[in-house]
Amino acid sequence: MILSIESSCDDSSVAITRIDDLKLLFHKKISQEKEHCQYGGVVPELASRLHAVDLPKILSETKEFFPHLKAVAVTNRPGLGVTLLEGIAMAKTLAMAKKIPLIGIHHLKGHIYSLFIEKEEKLPLIVLLISGGHTQLIRVESFDKMVILASTIDDSVGESFDKTAKMMNLGYPGGAIIEALAKDGDENRFDFPVPLRNSPLIAFSLSGLKNAVRLAIESLGGASNLTQQDRCDISASFQKALTLHLIQKSKKVFASEKIKDFAIVGGASANRYIYSHFASLCKVYQKNIYNIDMRYTSDNSAMIGRYGIEAFKRRLFNDAQSLDIATTKRVSVGEEL
Ligand code: KG4
Ligand code: ZN
Repeated sequence: MILSIESSCDDSSVAITRIDDLKLLFHKKISQEKEHCQYGGVVPELASRLHAVDLPKILSETKEFFPHLKAVAVTNRPGLGVTLLEGIAMAKTLAMAKKIPLIGIHHLKGHIYSLFIEKEEKLPLIVLLISGGHTQLIRVESFDKMVILASTIDDSVGESFDKTAKMMNLGYPGGAIIEALAKDGDENRFDFPVPLRNSPLIAFSLSGLKNAVRLAIESLGGASNLTQQDRCDISASFQKALTLHLIQKSKKVFASEKIKDFAIVGGASANRYIYSHFASLCKVYQKNIYNIDMRYTSDNSAMIGRYGIEAFKRRLFNDAQSLDIATTKRVSVGEEL
């Protein structure tokens, strides 16, 4: 069995996965959304302190599996330095005490392998990764070859949902809140600009859209003057412009990529509106879209364990003394994740 740990942001999570048949034997996550809500975003030091309490709490529930552990996998990049350290410290202690290998895992590769939890991997595929920290189109050729096809030049999809919610004083995280409000909204009331609409650039940009949302809120007299219908209409119009943008840029990639399988991963992949628009796009381009397993869209340790198993099979171990948070440079189009 492999024990996996995730603490790259505001979720403390530990999982146990059986290596032979990929069965997830234990998976628990404690989210800190309530604690960060009042600040409208994640406060790194607070997150770190909460991980220090919650990770050992979850770990203590996995003791029955300890005699069967063959390795420990832990997210060590990218993420918030102070929160990654909490997971790494626990992973190192465990690996050293039990004298088993330690494996540092790339969080985004984990998100991609969330598609294969309790399943055999099926590659190659094109992935749209939309999370709180990242927005990328990736060609996943194999376990260790993932090439960036397009990336955001400013904000991420999840972040723009969170900011839109924050500007209307709706709390954190904003994605699910905005999606729910949008269901009762008129998506044509506000004509928010679709980012990079007339640009040939295959890239994402969300800061202009965020600004347009801010101006709309101001024109209505500020957040405190909004009616419930205003909030719903702003949410729907924002979600529409953002989705059109993702579709428009992905179209160009779909036209040139021969790979038939496509999936959306990351926290914002839980959004059904975005998913249904991509499902239609896939029909046009004759691609197969993966069903979303809603249990594993947001940060979790099961995905870290699933990627960890592939690394374990290839004996890609890290030194338990020296494993650290890895500084990840911003990867550009054409480079590997
Ligand atoms: O992958 P994730 O859990 O954490 C990171 O690695 O960043 O993603 C969290 C992000 C948040 O920004 C959250 O607002 C967004 O995912 N999110 C959504 C939805 N559910 C979560 N965004 C849009 N629609 C949703 N239903
Ligand atoms: Zn994530």
